[in-house]
Amino acid sequence: MTMAQYDLVIRNARVATAADTMNCDIGISAGRIMALAQSLAQGKSEIDAAGKWVTPGGVDAHCHLDQPVPAPMQMADDFVSGTVAAACGGTTTVIPFAAQVKGGSLRAAVEDYHLRADGKALIDYAFHLIVTDPSDTVLREELPSLIREGYTSFKIYMTYDDLKLNDREILDVLAVARVEGAMVMVHAENADCIEWLTRKLEAAGRTAPRYHAEARPMLVEREATQRAIALSELVDVPILIVHVSGREALEQIRWAHAHGLRIYAETCPQYLFLTAEHLHAPGFEGAKCVCSPPPRDHANQQVIWNALACGVFQVFSSDHAPFRYEDARGKKLGGKEVPFRHIPNGIPGIETRLPLLFSAGVLGGRIDITTFVALTSTNPAKLYGLYPRKGTIAVGSDADLVIWDQGREIMISNSMLHHHVDYTPYEGIKLASWPQITLSRGEVVWDGSRPQGRTGRGQFLKCALADAARPVMHSARCKFDGTVQS
Ligand code: URP
Ligand code: ZN
Ligand code: ZN
Repeated sequence: MTMAQYDLVIRNARVATAADTMNCDIGISAGRIMALAQSLAQGKSEIDAAGKWVTPGGVDAHCHLDQPVPAPMQMADDFVSGTVAAACGGTTTVIPFAAQVKGGSLRAAVEDYHLRADGKALIDYAFHLIVTDPSDTVLREELPSLIREGYTSFKIYMTYDDLKLNDREILDVLAVARVEGAMVMVHAENADCIEWLTRKLEAAGRTAPRYHAEARPMLVEREATQRAIALSELVDVPILIVHVSGREALEQIRWAHAHGLRIYAETCPQYLFLTAEHLHAPGFEGAKCVCSPPPRDHANQQVIWNALACGVFQVFSSDHAPFRYEDARGKKLGGKEVPFRHIPNGIPGIETRLPLLFSAGVLGGRIDITTFVALTSTNPAKLYGLYPRKGTIAVGSDADLVIWDQGREIMISNSMLHHHVDYTPYEGIKLASWPQITLSRGEVVWDGSRPQGRTGRGQFLKCALADAARPVMHSARCKFDGTVQS
């Protein structure tokens, strides 16, 4: 009898990476990819993937799980349900956010977030930070030391009262990012414009969910995107603009690229598959699609598709922000149909992110498979310091893989999903594929019908500094000498 040489062999795979496609077997042992070749030796177990695309497991680099939010709001997904849902949709790494409370310690936020996460996840996870209060202690001690300990990216907000930074504070945190080599993610919307418009709408009695979109027109996103780019240029440090919704913000990003600035950009399924019309649903139902920036119109969906196809975006994330609809801790805050100002922002999408893009994007002929892999896995792994352990199919990388079932026609319904949200904004959308198997470090975590594996097996990942976060050294422009000003 011949001895098995691998723990698992996936035979006859149509392997896709961000660079190449190839037909080969994948040999896996001890959770890692050991060999990529044709006619590999035997494995203790084998999966025949003949004719099926095999892609790297998804890296969802923007999702919110069990994030502390002001009471009575509460997120519906913790690290158990959120990572199970992710795995069932082909994602094998998540990067949610450890959020500083204004006036509180950033390190305490990280410690609290580990208590929420460790021992619960089905798949591997890292943390971004959210900096809401760049005090001297945060700028000089907590942020630099946390970056050095493996929390190498953080998000900042230009809107939301409990989160936003002013321009001077943004410059301060960008300066720390430049010195330490961290990646800064920016939520770009102009808070004062939103507040001014919100008050006008409220004075006119316009408080239904659909007015959320009127309070956040593209102009407020465009202005903040342009300002974030200018602040990044002043400090000479790259930034990543998250959840870009349409043409106007994209024009600013294209302008930055044309001027040699290192500005990265992310978009999300809601800007491809929803429009502001979804906020017009009868009664209070529009609250289900309240997120920021809001979905735009069909013309803007096309603009986002075009930008995905031609390389303006580097990342496609879910921005999963799970609030239940029929819940006093969710969209009906306090048990009421509240004015749009008080509706918790965000929509679920951690499980549907990859199938939506694979089906409508790759199988729909809008993007090629290598672009799909780059956007959903390789680029986020590179930008946030997890590559090449995550984000690719290569010898030595973790065996995080998705085998796609292309014959599987599915109509999305909330009943088939594994999150703890009581709706999906993508109800009724038809898909031409779904993951047949998801593997995390060589273990099946989704078998096409059910999640598999023990929750708690997911490992915390420390992130390295990403090359992508390095300054471009615009010496003529750089006005920052590398010290944090007091
Ligand atoms: O509406 C959204 N996007 N909510 C989640 C939080 C954020 O801004 O990413
Ligand atoms: Zn945001
Ligand atoms: Zn978000």
